[in-house]
Amino acid sequence: MKSFVLKGNICYSADQKTIRTVEGGYAVCADGMAKGVYETLPEEYAALPVIDHGDMLIIPGLVDLHIHAAQYAYRGTGMDMELMEWLDVNAFPEEGKFADMEYAEKAYSVFVKHMRESASTHFVVMASRYPKSTKLLMEKMEEAGLVSLVGKVNMNRGAPDYLREMSEEEAAEETRRWLVEIQGKFRHTKPVLTPRFIPSCTDGLMEILGEIRREFDLPVHSHLSENLGEIEFVRELQPDSPFYGAGYDRVSLFGKDHVTGKHFPTVMGHCIWSGEEEIRMMLENGVTVAHCPACNMNVSSGIAPIRKYLDMGLNVGLGSDIAGGHTVSLFNAMVNAVQVSKLYWRLVDQSCAAITFPEAFHLATKGGGQVFGKVGSFEDGYEFSAVVLDDSSFDRTLPLTVLQRLERAVYLSLDLYGIRAKYCCGERLF
Ligand code: GUN
Ligand code: FE
Repeated sequence: MKSFVLKGNICYSADQKTIRTVEGGYAVCADGMAKGVYETLPEEYAALPVIDHGDMLIIPGLVDLHIHAAQYAYRGTGMDMELMEWLDVNAFPEEGKFADMEYAEKAYSVFVKHMRESASTHFVVMASRYPKSTKLLMEKMEEAGLVSLVGKVNMNRGAPDYLREMSEEEAAEETRRWLVEIQGKFRHTKPVLTPRFIPSCTDGLMEILGEIRREFDLPVHSHLSENLGEIEFVRELQPDSPFYGAGYDRVSLFGKDHVTGKHFPTVMGHCIWSGEEEIRMMLENGVTVAHCPACNMNVSSGIAPIRKYLDMGLNVGLGSDIAGGHTVSLFNAMVNAVQVSKLYWRLVDQSCAAITFPEAFHLATKGGGQVFGKVGSFEDGYEFSAVVLDDSSFDRTLPLTVLQRLERAVYLSLDLYGIRAKYCCGERLF
């Protein structure tokens, strides 16, 4: 494949506030790259094969900026707890099972199959702390034709002995070995350095991770300012740190390497309670916020002030955050992002206007896509990924525009049952 034209009702985010729709339009893919959307097919593309998706909706592949692959099996259960207890009761025991390759084979096969069937084409993934099963996950993601940044989790404190790494040296050595072993192995699956969060990593380990990041030139993925109990704990662990994010920044794990002066992609899950200094540093260092509203509700963490972040020019995307989040549906994440922003406006701060539907769509596509380069649109120069949605099961009592059909598809989670075709980097997955 790689070069073709998709015909259908095409929807993409032109800018943060605008969704462009073209009814019966043409989205052009040449050598895996998008070449724009047209009402009539330009002469120069006339020789390309046209795949006609009829009256279906065609959107860019979505970007899930924060998901825990090793928590997938228990999604939708064990929700009546706050974050720190939830980690002890649910997350850690499950992640401990990924030392067993037989279990990992079974669990990751299901995870990857479901990711392939989802509306997401790009993922930032936390695996578990075990290098061997993390490599297995990477092999499976690659084989599925998806694009991902996958991290072996680093955690040498604050978890049971059966799960945590028993020393800084062991954690560093396992991370290095994993990085060497997967180096150059995959096209679409890359490693991301993953300190779980500050409660899980000693200062010494954080320092070594900063060196490893520099040595292998890696992006970073972690959690930040998610839950009040967690933040209080971080204050106790790092009393000399002015704010949570400074604990990452002082070891060059927060978007900017202080030794080389270079910037690198960094994704921080949540950022609900970030103060002014932390926000300013995220902005200066180019840190991306992974907004995970479902998880933020489920483990009672709070509401991230996304309006404020967008107004300040921070880069923001959406995450399902399985299994703190209960569903892989990024349509659901879009709806939740709009809904919690309305509650934030109503209950917390009336200077923060609610997020609109076009803004939520932008977060799920181009917003998160920035972490991967030019991803999340059909505009010229973007990597071509697409999802084809069949909304014919909905009633047509009203004559809806394409934009209204898209909004309804999102609100009714059509991505869970109405995907008829999926393309990633110019390849048709199904
Ligand atoms: N903080 C540290 N680990 C986790 C996790 O697994 N899920 C969430 N939501 N927050 C975390
Ligand atoms: Fe998380």
